[in-house]
Amino acid sequence: MDIYEKIISLAKRRGFLYPSYEIYGGEAGFYDYGPIGVLMKNNIENRWRQFYLIKERFFEISTPVITPYNVLKASGHVDEFIDEIATCQKCGASFKIEDLENEHCPICKGNVEKGKLNLMFETFIGAKKKEKAFLRPETAQGIFINFPFLYEFYRKKLPFGVIQIGKGFRNEVSPRQGVIRLREFSMAEAEIFFEPNNKKHPKFKEMENEKLKLITEKDEEIFISIGEAVNKKIIGNEALAYYMALTKKFLIDVGIDENKIRFRQHKKDELAHYANECWDAELYSERFGWVECVGIADRSAYDLKAHMEYTGVDMRVFKKYEMPKKIKKKIIKPRMDKIGKKYKEKTKEIIKKLKEIEIKEKIEKLRIKIGEEEIELDKELFEIEEVEEVISGEKFIPHVIEPSYGIDRIFYFILEHNYKEIEKEGEKYVILSLPASIAPIKVGVFPLVNKDGLPEIAKEIEEDLRKNNIIAFYDDKGSIGRRYARMDEIGTPFCVTVDYQTKNDDTVTIRFRDTTEQIRIDRKEVPTWIANKL
Ligand code: ATP
Ligand code: GLY
Repeated sequence: MDIYEKIISLAKRRGFLYPSYEIYGGEAGFYDYGPIGVLMKNNIENRWRQFYLIKERFFEISTPVITPYNVLKASGHVDEFIDEIATCQKCGASFKIEDLENEHCPICKGNVEKGKLNLMFETFIGAKKKEKAFLRPETAQGIFINFPFLYEFYRKKLPFGVIQIGKGFRNEVSPRQGVIRLREFSMAEAEIFFEPNNKKHPKFKEMENEKLKLITEKDEEIFISIGEAVNKKIIGNEALAYYMALTKKFLIDVGIDENKIRFRQHKKDELAHYANECWDAELYSERFGWVECVGIADRSAYDLKAHMEYTGVDMRVFKKYEMPKKIKKKIIKPRMDKIGKKYKEKTKEIIKKLKEIEIKEKIEKLRIKIGEEEIELDKELFEIEEVEEVISGEKFIPHVIEPSYGIDRIFYFILEHNYKEIEKEGEKYVILSLPASIAPIKVGVFPLVNKDGLPEIAKEIEEDLRKNNIIAFYDDKGSIGRRYARMDEIGTPFCVTVDYQTKNDDTVTIRFRDTTEQIRIDRKEVPTWIANKL
């Protein structure tokens, strides 16, 4: 068994992950989180909130999964969210072209036909009169389309960030990598809105010495501080660099091996339709090699502009200058008499149109459109005049920096990076060295033996822990060694054991998962002691 098989087997046996619909033969690209898995996934998401909601001060919103056609037409997903695929003419299997080594099916060696596939799942809204819709491929659009409300909420001040944690759906062509490539997966996304020329972060100074391993667009590998990377224009702006470094901090915090993190820059032909710069945080797997787990992109004004053009709703913000500015402007002065004579009842419309036109260079003729009709105005019908105007500010569409985290991939990598097999007294067993904050169960509570009042005391301690919002698990089955082993295997950092001494002096042992070291403390102090460790 390789590491992936070992982890998937452990995950299934201990209730982390179950392949979905297994009693019906299974469905590729879907995984269920079991009782232990849900606890751990919630812990990862809550750590993520600690970073983005608490420390970055962003607010979280929650928007629907089902998304009307128009929204994703505007965002570019209908036309661009496409994989080039190859389908085998013999066995019918499909593959991503980029995964194919030659023109033959890797399964049956049949000939393949090339085609395209939009990865979005289609659905319909309504009963009789059906409106086409999709399951969202990213949570981000739900944030963008609420921009006008969110901008109000943030009292019309940039920059600000909004987060969303939720499901994303992609009908992946060939999800053959288990939990790494799902068709329904959890995303944690932050969309941070900036002034286009001011993509900075107030805490950049504190972070500027953080070093990252980068693989640049030119495939060069460098280990460099984000400060230097921005100075050398390797990373496009401070905000993007800041969120890359924050991503590294988050990944280490939840238990990812620091030496197995790198940031790879997208090449121009690899960029998503909305991005103008993107760095993937890739994590190393002994089975899969480097795998993207977080995408950190500069989406510029792409999305807001797209929704503004599609709906006509103004997504621009107004920025007041510190001092009003005087500008010189060329305007058109229509010759009313001549236009009136020539165009009669159309005059009003024409004058209105002329007022909207901005003149940059010298012109001889003006072409305007009234309804479907194109009208050409000769130069005797208007004059150009230069005027001075005082303007107090300007309108622009904010730019977006987006860190987009795939929770399921991170979940898998935490397991892989913390999986240890050790041999003890001729027996092999597994320790998951999860950080205490991520561990599904925080404390195992055991009576040394099942008699003489020890189980009652242990149950009281477990109850006490739960009253303090700590997930504790009481276990009296099998030898004490087996009970420790069962807790080690699911990453429980501490075990509390009640023994005969407890009855004399009210102390219990606390055993540490990674060192197996034990200490004795007063049983009444257990909840506070554990809470401090978490
Ligand atoms: P890939 O190249 O692996 O298909 P992607 O470039 O399409 O990924 P993004 O569009 O950047 O991925 O999505 C953001 C994050 O969502 C990814 O970093 C990843 O963690 C996660 N993600 C994307 N697709 C899947 C999937 N099919 N299953 C699980 N997680 C996914
Ligand atoms: N929201 C980023 C992505 O889906 O890739």
